[in-house]
Amino acid sequence: MKLHQTVAAEVEAAFKQAGIGGSPIVLQPAKSPEFGDFQINGVMGAAKALKQNPRELAQKVADALSGSLKIDSAEVAGPGFINLRLNAGFLAQQVEAALNGERCGVDQTDAPQTVVIDYSSPNLAKEMHVGHLRSSIIGDSIARLLGFLGHRVIRQNHVGDWGTQFGMLVAYLVEQQKDNAAFELSDLEQFYRAAKVRFDEDAAFADTARDYVVKLQGGDANVLALWKQFVEISLGHAQAVYQTLGLLLQPEDVRGESFYNPDLQPVVDELSAQKLAVDDDGAKVVFLEEFKNKEGEPAAFIVQKQGGGFLYSSTDLACIRYRVGTLGAERLLYVVDKRQSLHFEQLFTVARRAGWLPENVRAEHIAFGTMMGKDGRPFKTRSGDTVKLVDLLDEAVERAAALVKQKNPEADAAAVGRAVGIGAVKYADLSKNRNSDYVFDWDAMLSFEGNTAPYLQYAYTRVQSLLRKAGDWQHDAHIVLEEAAEKQLAFELLRFGDVLEAAADSAQPHHLAAYLYQTATLFSRFYEACPILKADAPRRNSRLRLAELAGRVLKQGLELLGIEVLDVM
Ligand code: ARG
Repeated sequence: MKLHQTVAAEVEAAFKQAGIGGSPIVLQPAKSPEFGDFQINGVMGAAKALKQNPRELAQKVADALSGSLKIDSAEVAGPGFINLRLNAGFLAQQVEAALNGERCGVDQTDAPQTVVIDYSSPNLAKEMHVGHLRSSIIGDSIARLLGFLGHRVIRQNHVGDWGTQFGMLVAYLVEQQKDNAAFELSDLEQFYRAAKVRFDEDAAFADTARDYVVKLQGGDANVLALWKQFVEISLGHAQAVYQTLGLLLQPEDVRGESFYNPDLQPVVDELSAQKLAVDDDGAKVVFLEEFKNKEGEPAAFIVQKQGGGFLYSSTDLACIRYRVGTLGAERLLYVVDKRQSLHFEQLFTVARRAGWLPENVRAEHIAFGTMMGKDGRPFKTRSGDTVKLVDLLDEAVERAAALVKQKNPEADAAAVGRAVGIGAVKYADLSKNRNSDYVFDWDAMLSFEGNTAPYLQYAYTRVQSLLRKAGDWQHDAHIVLEEAAEKQLAFELLRFGDVLEAAADSAQPHHLAAYLYQTATLFSRFYEACPILKADAPRRNSRLRLAELAGRVLKQGLELLGIEVLDVM
């Protein structure tokens, strides 16, 4: 059940009775509980359209609502504004229904979509570094959200496993093996750096490297075998990181750039046949009128270089064709750094024109900002190097384990450290609006106070410890909502489905994070204001049930952010 939907249906009926059928219903949770639970904002516009006095029209709606069993009061709060207070008995019933199911009262969608979500997608020539953290974490949460709501989610890890850099690596590997036949690759990062030095200092080496790229793209078996070594090692590293992070991503979700190699020439040919791509100095280019450059000329979207080489853009076009045509995508999500936003705007435009991206398929660049250090610059090591993801995650777990040991010497520091450390890193990212840059700050993210993972994880263990202490209690007791703190908590818990829907639709997990923080805060207030274990039996049982739902919502919500909870910590 969606609380919003249920109440909106009541409001719609009242609108009709007041003679304003057909107007959009704008229903928002009240800014503060003293104003009630929901606020109706839609009357003003209707009054204008009907040339009526907004206060009088609002009063008509309020009067019509006063008959509803779900609503205790509807008060006109200003011209066109109405504050709604829901009926406690209605809320109690809904809480009971949510407790009787397995999904915290959240229904699966009745309009499931096939959603293809592109995330993580590192370049495999190097080891994963912090630049890939945001895409991995944000994408995984969105995949979880959509899946929970009943959509068919297809994860795609569009790894960079093709192109110039691999020619360079192969050339260097051949060179090394000439000197030492038993040479084995161990440190990919180190190897990449050494290869890059050779590439930059020696023109002959650079030519050989380019030669290998051509051979690779032409399907030369020897070169392919060498290339495969890099890809396998690098994918192994990536999968280990995914495991540590607890991501859903599996090896079978990998569909890298190389996969589209056979499709690239056909894609360019089709664009040419459609007269969308034209010859420009030997290159194939789509000119886009809607993207003018500074000189007022249409932007050039290059799909094939002079000399026949393909680009990132050619691969992405082939990839859209595949995702829509073969995978059956009805919604496409690309969780990629916001610095690539022009690429995606142009890509979608070209794909729409070419007919590979029909109007009814939604394509969205799920952009995110940069992870910054406390000095306000992109996050780096002290010596200015990029931070390897494995190192960062190890540090998170170590720091969290040390903190946990301090707080509770009896705790299983390794297990709790893992859940809290990884949870803290993920939550610090997911709780911010993804479009902004954010500052990576160990102390802030590992604090047990404020909007952090440890705070929420701890709130969950508090609920569990309360339920344990309660011993035997009646799990099917009736819920009675008497105190304001109880009612507010119940109202918040029943909004869970609305919040998930909004977070999934906008692909913004921070809405869910903010909601969970609010839920934990309201649980604390309830816990302080209402005696639980010492209350008389009906109240004790009712309050324990409310606490149980709070625990379930926190657990489910955190799971959708990819964060573990613990019964004790
Ligand atoms: N490998 C790219 C990078 O690291 C990201 C790929 C994103 N996905 C895509 N279909 N373009 O920048």
